[in-house]
Amino acid sequence: MTKKILITGGAGYIGSHISEILVKEKKKIFIVDNLSTGHEKLINKKAKFYRVNINNIKKIRSIIIQNKIDSVIHLAASLIIGEGEKYPKKYFKNNVLNTKNLITACANTTIKNFIFSSTAAVYKDGKFKVTEKSKLSPKSIYGKTKLTAEKIIIKNCKKNKINYGILRYFNIVGSSPSGKIGLINKGDHLFKNYSMEAFKKKPLFKIYGTNYPTKDGSCVRDFIHVSDIAEIHSLVLKKIDKTNKSKILNCGYSEGISVKQVAKKFLNYTNKNAKIVEVQRRKGDLIQIIAVTKNLKKFIRWKPKFDKLDIMVKSSLKWEKNSKF
Ligand SMILES: NC(=O)c1ccc[n+]([C@@H]2O[C@H](COP(=O)([O-])OP(=O)(O)OC[C@H]3O[C@@H](n4cnc5c(N)ncnc54)[C@H](O)[C@@H]3O)[C@@H](O)[C@H]2O)c1
Repeated sequence: MTKKILITGGAGYIGSHISEILVKEKKKIFIVDNLSTGHEKLINKKAKFYRVNINNIKKIRSIIIQNKIDSVIHLAASLIIGEGEKYPKKYFKNNVLNTKNLITACANTTIKNFIFSSTAAVYKDGKFKVTEKSKLSPKSIYGKTKLTAEKIIIKNCKKNKINYGILRYFNIVGSSPSGKIGLINKGDHLFKNYSMEAFKKKPLFKIYGTNYPTKDGSCVRDFIHVSDIAEIHSLVLKKIDKTNKSKILNCGYSEGISVKQVAKKFLNYTNKNAKIVEVQRRKGDLIQIIAVTKNLKKFIRWKPKFDKLDIMVKSSLKWEKNSKF
């Protein structure tokens, strides 16, 4: 049974939610994060924190060996699509080379399981619903670096007899019901932008492009609540540990929600000055992408708890209202 888990990027948005769930399950959590985009406030108080870059093979190896860590959940990465297009070398270094260093640090240690956070951005654009076997053809540098990292993980895990779980997340939204953690970084995140807008005097919910070939003309995504994604990590980790199986799994609700639907929902919870504004398409936006999650549901016994748009919007607004960032 997994007991001691190292989370890279545990001071970030998703990593802090995974830490919260695993701490509740009485696992011993070790966080490695260089705080490049993470926040000390998000680090779980019960976790042991190391401010270390994942490229530091020697240090990571000694953390693993000294603490007899059995599993790694690897989230540390650079993940802003536009930034990746501007600074491809930075993305290649952090997402590919640093992942290689991390997996090298795990070889011939106590590590038995390795979970990697990948993304829907590895798939070819324009596909409606994607299975794990759909064509892989990332449009962005970010997606390319994540796909290369997947291949490095598979090769090295096989060589070193480590079970792997590659989780391709779709669009993560919301915040923990505990109210203690949520999304701080601004970046290019629809729910975050709308939540910040919602507390302005005259909120404007911008929709970029309303003439796409989709159900209502706006882009379509498969949004999944961060607490559900955190639970998936716990369940997949248990399963790969128990069965010694390795898997690549799409993680979403398998439901397409349009940007217009999201904007309308936010409008319901905002003051009377709020408006939806339709603007030009943005370069680089995927038209629509929805996860087929049959394999995930077959592999783990998982029932989403936060899969209503209403819940996801309220959860994002609650965090924005109560957080002072
Ligand atoms: N947020 C999403 O919607 C989404 C969707 C798909 C995949 N993902 C993946 O999930 C993971 C976590 O994303 P997030 O939204 O929590 O981002 P985040 O920026 O909040 O978290 C990333 C964390 O990694 C740390 N980090 C980055 N490079 C590091 C390095 N070299 N050494 C040590 N620490 C480092 C950062 O300080 C930060 O705390 C990423 O791998 C991302 O690609 C996220």
